[in-house]
Amino acid sequence: LDFDLVVRNGKVATASDTYRADIGIIDGRIAAIANGLPTGKRDIDAGGRWVMPGGVDSHCHVEQLSGMGLMCADDFYSATVSAAFGGNTTIMPFAAQHREDRVRDVLEDYHARAVEKSVIDYAFHVIVTNLDEQTLNEDLPQAIRQGITSLKVFMTYERMKLDDYQILDTLALADREGALVMVHAENNDVIRWLGDRLTERGLQAPKYHAIAHCGLAETEATHRVVTLSRILETPILIVHVSEAETLDCIRQAQQKGAALYAETCPQYLFLTAADIDKPGVEGAKFCCSPPPRDERCQGAMWQGLMEGSLSLYSSDHAPYRWDETGKLPKGEKTGFREMANGLPGLEVRMPLLFSEGYRKGRLTINEFVALTSTNHARTYGLYPRKGTIAVGSDADLVIWDEAREVTITNDLLHDNVDYTPYEGMKVTGWADTVINRGRVVVENGELKVDRGTGEFLPCGLPEPVAKARANREPDTLIRKLVGLSSGAQNHDA
Ligand code: URP
Ligand code: ZN
Ligand code: ZN
Ligand code: ZN
Repeated sequence: LDFDLVVRNGKVATASDTYRADIGIIDGRIAAIANGLPTGKRDIDAGGRWVMPGGVDSHCHVEQLSGMGLMCADDFYSATVSAAFGGNTTIMPFAAQHREDRVRDVLEDYHARAVEKSVIDYAFHVIVTNLDEQTLNEDLPQAIRQGITSLKVFMTYERMKLDDYQILDTLALADREGALVMVHAENNDVIRWLGDRLTERGLQAPKYHAIAHCGLAETEATHRVVTLSRILETPILIVHVSEAETLDCIRQAQQKGAALYAETCPQYLFLTAADIDKPGVEGAKFCCSPPPRDERCQGAMWQGLMEGSLSLYSSDHAPYRWDETGKLPKGEKTGFREMANGLPGLEVRMPLLFSEGYRKGRLTINEFVALTSTNHARTYGLYPRKGTIAVGSDADLVIWDEAREVTITNDLLHDNVDYTPYEGMKVTGWADTVINRGRVVVENGELKVDRGTGEFLPCGLPEPVAKARANREPDTLIRKLVGLSSGAQNHDA
């Protein structure tokens, strides 16, 4: 075998195994895993460092208008560069339909922008905000066939939110066509009502964002949407879980056998409500939805990652600059409701979990790989092309220096945000060399590839959907009567 690249002497970690080996790469794929492989056109000596599957960050916002109508600060170039420096080889941002848009046009637009700028591979989820006939019957089925097999729905944000009826429509469509529904679960009326009362009383500081977006607003909406998914027996994924009581609800439903998956993010492990309560307007730097909560909730999120009730750890990178009117609007209206919701995190996601999760003994190295890479690829239909180190898989590798001590500062990061909520935090371990489809993307602190060299990844059937189909025998009465039974298309009812 004539290798294009050999990564030699690595301590290889996948979600299931740890072993010493060389990895031989041909045409962007892993062609051999063994000791003592012959020299390739190029050799990289991992020198006993960890060699892991490149990170897959399945929740980030890039060149996207937010629920409040604000454009985020990173484009596909800066976002993918930042992701790569943080050890990732795949990102999964959203193509966001706004109420007046056709999904077909939205996708065309995101594809055009991403293909020209990305330096690592990417796939898309669609945010669905308008379920007209065309969207339901034409555009979404077509998008799913073209490899966009996950749909995000919002229960809050006036510009985005769907009601329960529309969520049932989305679940039914996903069930028929083979897609996974991701949900932003917060009770919109609770947030709006509390926000109105706080505003009437002149309570406008950033910390009131966290009061309006209270934990039980998240728990209630989660319980409701989980119930909708159980009524149809259609899988669902709750994104950015922050509240301990929400996790209790998720765990209970999972124990009852619900096809329920859930994600948490760095902001819920490493920040708290005390950060958003910083003096003056400084707290706006920590404003996201749901907001960071207390230490008890942080502990619960760790517990969820350790036990597996939370199977995904994503950044929810939603970048807004401090020096522009995005994060903190200047002028007349400067209340907590005008702050952009969202935090940057693509580049620090893996180092933070490695340091606080793996090094502190909360997670094994294999669990670290599962939570940062493998589970994302499985959940969204990219496995085994992505998310593992195996013969035939894409050669997406990160060589990780487990001893490098880094104090996180904004200067170090490659995104287009002018602050980091993790400023001053000390971590141990960082990505050294990042390889995507056999291309060395990052090495010696430098970017080694050009813009536009990342590729679009069509996603296959999400594993939660495949599992639900396999386990759902026989179909319930409701599924039969509403036309969701397997092979329903072949029956006259
Ligand atoms: O505050 C957040 N999380 N902003 C990003 C959009 C979202 O809801 O995920
Ligand atoms: Zn969300
Ligand atoms: Zn519940
Ligand atoms: Zn998000």
